[in-house]
Amino acid sequence: MNLKEYPNVTVIQHPVVQEQLTVARDKTTPPHRFRRVIGQIARLMAFEITRDYPVRPREVVTPLGPCTGCELARGLTLVPILRAGLGMVDGILALIPSARVGHLGIYRDEKSLKPITYYNKLPPDIAQTDVIVIDPMLATAGSLIAAMDVIKTTGASSLKALCLVAAPEGIANLTEKHPDVQVFVAAIDERLNERGYIVPGLGDAGDRIFGTI
Ligand code: PRP
Ligand code: URA
Repeated sequence: MNLKEYPNVTVIQHPVVQEQLTVARDKTTPPHRFRRVIGQIARLMAFEITRDYPVRPREVVTPLGPCTGCELARGLTLVPILRAGLGMVDGILALIPSARVGHLGIYRDEKSLKPITYYNKLPPDIAQTDVIVIDPMLATAGSLIAAMDVIKTTGASSLKALCLVAAPEGIANLTEKHPDVQVFVAAIDERLNERGYIVPGLGDAGDRIFGTI
């Protein structure tokens, strides 16, 4: 579903995604199950968002003769925002094993909610690839905006963001700062609370994935 006021934002309402997201939201879901479900949702969402990726012909020979098939025409780079984005990587690689993975370490200062960037390792040829930045949570969008700022300095121009849960404030901030980025989410929740957490959300994604609660 595309939102009228934000044409670059798509909410993926597939029933299987929504069922899995409900498991992730449930506070009784333990870390090992939470981790698995985050990976599953990421894989299902990646399947949806890569449906328009260009392909080129590829000739193969089947046991019965020649056949023209296809392969992805451009490389794909996944950029997880550490830590929580790491929880989505394996699920997407299971779908697209040829994707490269760049890493951006960014955390929010607990008081100011401003993003602090502490690590950057992107593939040297990222500009020639399609890029999907992954992070389960889009709250104020400070982290994603900082990530997009860094990635754009490389010359990369085909950028998507894949998140599980977003706040309306974050959607507004991200689309204002990076109107060219296509944003895919599984849900847009009610609001941010006074500590910048998404309500109802699913809590602290990094802590729940890595059991650091
Ligand atoms: C969380 C989350 C996002 C960010 C979202 O990371 O994984 O990266 O907050 O908030 P924002 O949209 O307001 O920037 P966190 O800062 O908790 O770091 P961590 O994953 O290392 O725990
Ligand atoms: N980061 C999280 O992990 N959860 C939120 O709700 C907001 C930021």
